[in-house]
Amino acid sequence: MRLAHFSDVHVTHFPLSGGFALKRLAAVASYSLAGRGKHFIGSDARIAALLAHVDGQQVDHAICTGDLTGVSTEAELARAAELFGPRLRQPERFTVIPGNHDRYVTSAAGLFEKHFGTLCEGASFPAVKHLPSGVTLVLLDAARPTSVIDSSGLIGEAQRSKALSILSDPSLKSRFVIVALHYGLLRMTGLRDSRPHGLRDDVEVMNLIDRDDVTVDLVLHGHLHRPFTIRTRQRHIVNAGSATDLHMRCGYNVYDIDVAAHRVAITRHRWSVEAGRYEADPGHALNVSLDTRP
Ligand SMILES: [Fe+2]
Ligand SMILES: [Fe+2]
Repeated sequence: MRLAHFSDVHVTHFPLSGGFALKRLAAVASYSLAGRGKHFIGSDARIAALLAHVDGQQVDHAICTGDLTGVSTEAELARAAELFGPRLRQPERFTVIPGNHDRYVTSAAGLFEKHFGTLCEGASFPAVKHLPSGVTLVLLDAARPTSVIDSSGLIGEAQRSKALSILSDPSLKSRFVIVALHYGLLRMTGLRDSRPHGLRDDVEVMNLIDRDDVTVDLVLHGHLHRPFTIRTRQRHIVNAGSATDLHMRCGYNVYDIDVAAHRVAITRHRWSVEAGRYEADPGHALNVSLDTRP
């Protein structure tokens, strides 16, 4: 089974058309004055190229782990949806979960669901997709509006409790189970993310996935724009990083999954500025094979 994983594509459209919000204005200042906008100049074209490249990899399924937009205006979400095009009507081929930038301010409530609800089972989380290949996706949502100096996320007790009952179902033992969320559980150093940037209940989620009575083969996320793999006590985590951030060696991952053997081989693809296209990145440290059962 072949799965593509990309994240943090950040459609970024200014001037704003989605109403006043201090946090949005602060983001505009960051993008305009501090130069962060340069990271995502031309991201629309890279997203179109990314989706076409993914289609060309003969993948069975593709998952995006959030941050489709910059400040979650209606215009940005509509543009992201336009770039996905007919894929929005193919939930058997595509999955998208929200990132913090897709629920940036309170007034953006419902916009992600309106445009991308078709690709995450109506955005009722935790959502579950049993793919015909033997892979099961368990989708968590940690994105919520926060204050101007806070980009943290929270899964929360209710979702964790439902996730425990899903992941402890014995019928999952013969499947390849992937937990996907926007936020990382650890930084690439192995340390926790900072309080204003990370997942507030990272420890609780790690304790959940590390339980002996749950089935988890792989955890996928984004949010941290530099990609990496890391381990918890029992599980492998893979961060796709950003697919479009020009400040990074941006790109996306393809996973060749052997469901019966519980093994995954990762191939990294990067955006080539010189060539103007995505291409295999054979020297990347993410090109590894992992055995996913302890
Ligand atoms: Fe991001
Ligand atoms: Fe994020």
